[in-house]
Amino acid sequence: MNFGKSKSLYSEALNLMPGGVSSPVRAVKPHPFYTAFGKGSKIADVDGNEYIDYCMGYGPLILGHAHPAVKKAIEEQLEKGWLYGTPIELEVKYAKLITKLFPGIEMLRFVNTGSEATMAALRVARGFTGRNKIIKVEGSFHGAHDAVLVKAGSGATTHGIPNSAGIPADFVKHTLQVPYNDIEALADVIEKNNDIAAFILEPVMGNSALILPEKDYLKEVRNVTEENDVLLIFDEVITGFRVSPGGAQEYYGIKPDLTTLGKIAGGGLPIGIFGGKKEIMENVAPSGNVYQAGTFSGNPLSLTAGYTTVKFLMENGYDYINSITKELADGIRDQIAGSNLGNEVGSIASMFCIYFGKTPKNYSDSLKLDGKKFIEFFWKLLEEGVFFPPSQYETCFVSFAHSREDIEKTIEAVGTCLRKL
Ligand SMILES: Cc1ncc(COP(=O)(O)O)c(C=O)c1O
Repeated sequence: MNFGKSKSLYSEALNLMPGGVSSPVRAVKPHPFYTAFGKGSKIADVDGNEYIDYCMGYGPLILGHAHPAVKKAIEEQLEKGWLYGTPIELEVKYAKLITKLFPGIEMLRFVNTGSEATMAALRVARGFTGRNKIIKVEGSFHGAHDAVLVKAGSGATTHGIPNSAGIPADFVKHTLQVPYNDIEALADVIEKNNDIAAFILEPVMGNSALILPEKDYLKEVRNVTEENDVLLIFDEVITGFRVSPGGAQEYYGIKPDLTTLGKIAGGGLPIGIFGGKKEIMENVAPSGNVYQAGTFSGNPLSLTAGYTTVKFLMENGYDYINSITKELADGIRDQIAGSNLGNEVGSIASMFCIYFGKTPKNYSDSLKLDGKKFIEFFWKLLEEGVFFPPSQYETCFVSFAHSREDIEKTIEAVGTCLRKL
């Protein structure tokens, strides 16, 4: 395969940007490919190679690349300008739609990234309860800010720095950790600490490979937090609009106190949202004294792309995307049966993951997966014209633009690569 132009760009980039990239997970070794354009289910690089894409911008592009309806809406907004610094009508319309869809969101604020959303949600939880400590799950990823970069998943784990340098120990002493799918551990930490503002978790973990909640885990989480007066924050930056229109909270029937959204909510443009019960959200400035603000918050382009995407989802439902994902996961399972590698496959809605090892239940299980073998597989798969996110700890995403032909090709390609390893 020819990667000449990508390699040359990367060698220049290494001198200009840390690790040559704008976000660590993109720094695949020995070099990433540089994208020229994306269209539908495909992404093409600067050397003319084309791939069926299951990274989909790490989740936001649920309709595929350059979806015509989203493109048209963005173009129409462009004609009217793209930043005002004043409220716009669409903010009200979109907020109304989101509060209708998400059981746990009565009031919300638009911000610019998922990181910003979780940072603000934690501040609101602390401001509302007057308490300092938070609990997170080992291996979860809630963005790149101080309070949550402890045993953090995603790129932090891929690059071997789950505990970031540069964060005062005095600060992260307020961040407690529990393993996922372990209700006793959560109850125990809550019992031993009386200063806990909130428990934040990804209801379905998508940053330490894909990890599904065991039966009743989320229900028990809701009970334990409620009984102990600890706020429950669902980080639905990945699962929001993905596992169902109302996210994992709708899918599993759980009502958190606060919710964070991002990714799909912006239809491929930068966005973050935090929201929750009115009595909590009313503590946010200017109606309350928990300060939060942003020049680009609620910007017209992100709202337009996001609103158009969500409208599409409401009108089309999830049957197609979920059924092709199931066909893909089942097809891959059949291919695995013909290899000696002992892989397993996890999936939910339009998310899936091929494990190089046993299906994980928590972060320590995920750390036992064979990440090196995964990268060998990643490169072989690229040669077959299929692009997975370049880490065992990431989740693959299917879009509405994927065709049944894409799915069949991918099943074949995965089988070929697994047999070659
Ligand atoms: C669950 C979750 N929360 C928060 C974030 C941070 O979002 P952003 O990258 O938009 O800051 C991510 C990013 O991948 C995520 O997966």
